[in-house]
Amino acid sequence: MELPVSDLVDHGIRLVEEERRRIARDLHDGPAQALTHISMRLDVISQLLRTDVEMAVTELSRTNSRVLAAVNDIRRLIFDLRPLAIDEIGLIPALGELCSRLSKEGPSQVWMRGITELPPLSPAKQVALYRLIQELLQNARKHAKAANINLTLSRDGDVLAIAVADDGCGFSVHDIPEGHYGLIGAHERAEFIGGNLEIDASPGRGSRFVLRVTCHG
Ligand SMILES: Nc1ncnc2c1ncn2[C@@H]1O[C@H](COP(=O)(O)OP(=O)(O)O)[C@@H](O)[C@H]1O
Ligand SMILES: [Mg+2]
Repeated sequence: MELPVSDLVDHGIRLVEEERRRIARDLHDGPAQALTHISMRLDVISQLLRTDVEMAVTELSRTNSRVLAAVNDIRRLIFDLRPLAIDEIGLIPALGELCSRLSKEGPSQVWMRGITELPPLSPAKQVALYRLIQELLQNARKHAKAANINLTLSRDGDVLAIAVADDGCGFSVHDIPEGHYGLIGAHERAEFIGGNLEIDASPGRGSRFVLRVTCHG
């Protein structure tokens, strides 16, 4: 479907804003909170140094682990800003890395199966596809608390199908509260790459998302 340029610009601006909102939230919930906590621990340690040096040493080592965890968190945020892996190792291996990282972080196990090569896609479309899949996987972990998430890539003739299915709590597409733009962004990204995203979900039955894109040539 061809969209007027002004609509595409609107969509682009909304996607950028949504991305910024997510980054701001991640920075707030992750490193900003961690650093506030670390600063409080340092106050405690400076008092302990006068009364209980041994305890101060133990606290210092705990606090150091917190600093290292915050550094890891910041590295992950940097990676999310620009998934360099797509340029370096290709989209499918980058998705593989994303799935294993998410599995490690829990609570869901993310399984990836299917074709190992994609038809040629522009770099912008590859990033759009990556972000779309990332949003669906994150939703399945965060909202559905799924035990298992399956990402399946398949090809039928010139139609590429990407399915994300979870065995979590499910939801009703009619009951999405205001102010949530992740799925809207996913639809917009699907449109941007010339595909469409179907949702099959209902409470208690898990959720399944299928993105279909026709590839020419
Ligand atoms: N896989 C899923 N399982 C259960 N609920 C989901 C799933 N994906 C989305 N949802 C529901 O749809 C809502 C909207 O999702 P989304 O647009 O991505 O916004 P956000 O993730 O910021 O809440 C979520 O708040 C959640 O209630
Ligand atoms: Mg979301």
